Amino acid sequence: TASPILALLAAFLIGSIPFAVIVSKLMGLDDPRSYGSGNPGATNVLRSGNKAAAVLTLLGDAAKGLIALLLAKALAPDLGLSMQVLAGVAIAVFLGHVFSIFLRFKGGKGVATAAGVLLGIDWRLGAAVLGVWLVVAIVSRYSSLAALSAAVAAPALTLWLTHSDTWTGAVVIMSAILIWRHKDNIRKLLAGQEGRIGKKKKPED
Ligand code: G3P
Repeated sequence: TASPILALLAAFLIGSIPFAVIVSKLMGLDDPRSYGSGNPGATNVLRSGNKAAAVLTLLGDAAKGLIALLLAKALAPDLGLSMQVLAGVAIAVFLGHVFSIFLRFKGGKGVATAAGVLLGIDWRLGAAVLGVWLVVAIVSRYSSLAALSAAVAAPALTLWLTHSDTWTGAVVIMSAILIWRHKDNIRKLLAGQEGRIGKKKKPED
């Protein structure tokens, strides 16, 4: 049947919706790809100085991950979607954000969307990983370091809370891609040049 392929395609399309670019445009702000880290994500939108735009970006990018998962789970019995396909949907919506079809495959780093996906897999898992993000963000004021810490913690938390090799495998893949997407951030963290949360900076900084 075509259902699994359609589910994966739909998830990729939903994930591709670039809330950072859409929210910024609607609110009359510069395109987030033109300043700061250049990343179309909530952390970078915050560098515009508009907190509401950053919050809306965060909520939108997280909601698409959450909705894709909840929708796939709800439709799974009727469409005959297997556990493996649900794990594929998790990866597909995340990949949609990272390789957005609407941004010529140059999307974001996947943090907010991964958070939504984890909440959709198991709300306790989402809450636990968000907790890791929050603690590191508050202590360090580095959004990237918080995301990297959460990504490192996520697979073990997934195995512990879901007891599912399939979910854990999907989360390992998402974490690996998320960490790879932060390679510039890792370089800057190591060089002591990473921007703190909310601090504005120009592209050449
Ligand atoms: O949400 C992505 C965050 O971890 C880093 O964003 O703009 O500082 O590269 P940015």
